[in-house]
Amino acid sequence: MDNSAKDIRSIIWEEDSILIIDQTKIPLATVFKRLNTVEDVWNAIFKLEVRGAPAIGIAAAYGLYISIRDFKVRNFDEFYQELEKNSDYLASSRPTAVNLFWALKRMKKRALEVKDKSIEEIKKDLLQEAHFIRDEDENMCKAIGENFLTLMKDGMTVLTHCNAGGLATARYGTALAPIFLAKAKGWNIKVFADETRPLLQGSRLTAWELMEYGVDVTLICDNMAAHVMSKGWIDAVITGCDRVAANGDAANKIGTYGLAVLAKAHNIPFYIAAPSSTIDIETSHGYKIPIEERHPDEISCGFGIRTAPEGVKVYNPAFDVTPNHLITAIVTEKGILKPPYDIGIKDLFKI
Ligand code: MRU
Repeated sequence: MDNSAKDIRSIIWEEDSILIIDQTKIPLATVFKRLNTVEDVWNAIFKLEVRGAPAIGIAAAYGLYISIRDFKVRNFDEFYQELEKNSDYLASSRPTAVNLFWALKRMKKRALEVKDKSIEEIKKDLLQEAHFIRDEDENMCKAIGENFLTLMKDGMTVLTHCNAGGLATARYGTALAPIFLAKAKGWNIKVFADETRPLLQGSRLTAWELMEYGVDVTLICDNMAAHVMSKGWIDAVITGCDRVAANGDAANKIGTYGLAVLAKAHNIPFYIAAPSSTIDIETSHGYKIPIEERHPDEISCGFGIRTAPEGVKVYNPAFDVTPNHLITAIVTEKGILKPPYDIGIKDLFKI
């Protein structure tokens, strides 16, 4: 990758605190925000200043370290109790992206593995684990992109939804990684980006990232997807994911399920990009994935502009679940999964 977008790093560890790009400010401004406390991290995740499943996990890992770094205790049990309490707190920030819980679990596991060390050494190990989580995510995203390229060809047009780019991960993104890699190879890939109501991650973030990188991107409203598919303009749909259940059902930004139905109706392949940290083998089926419901104002008074009568009833689920039978393939860093997903996922995790 050889231009400015390669350097999008949504989360940086610097001067003993987390520096994030505040994603609520893009595309109007690139504002960096420093998170110094566990409450700062909780709020940043809740308000979507840091968002996208992998980025949420990375922020939570650093947040958990920050929550205990100044904690003075006499023994490991007291230390671990505090770690669990803060982990539960961070886990309450958003319910759907499994990377949040995955990262917190991994941090606690690391603490238990090194419990015989001094408390100061355990703290250092936890910071190191957060760095590992971030670095591994960057590597996983690159590998997803490379695996995805085997399904793509020069000249194709892709439709994507929400933002699964560098902003949503440590670097490169998941759904956007193959597009950046293809561009770096000199391929001419065109992208249609759904604006992604109600919070417009597609228009604010995906269109911005792709334009930064010089990718040919066309913005559409979500309800235009069927129309552009019917014109024969879309060769594949590629989205990211917040949680893949053990049977391959996949939760992603609200509207993804509808796109998968439309893709099927138009005989277009529908692909999910997901690092293994997004696959939740403990959740057997998609209907068991908790779906976040957000504030009604996001729909009736989005970005501070009232567009519905005061007091109207609103339903605002942030995610939906695409059933496995609508998914052509799930592309991970370890390889490409095809149906039946339950078998492929078991193989991937060697269970
Ligand atoms: O509510 P958001 O913006 O956090 O939702 C994000 C998505 O749905 C992404 O597609 C998903 O997290 C994958 S990011 C690589």
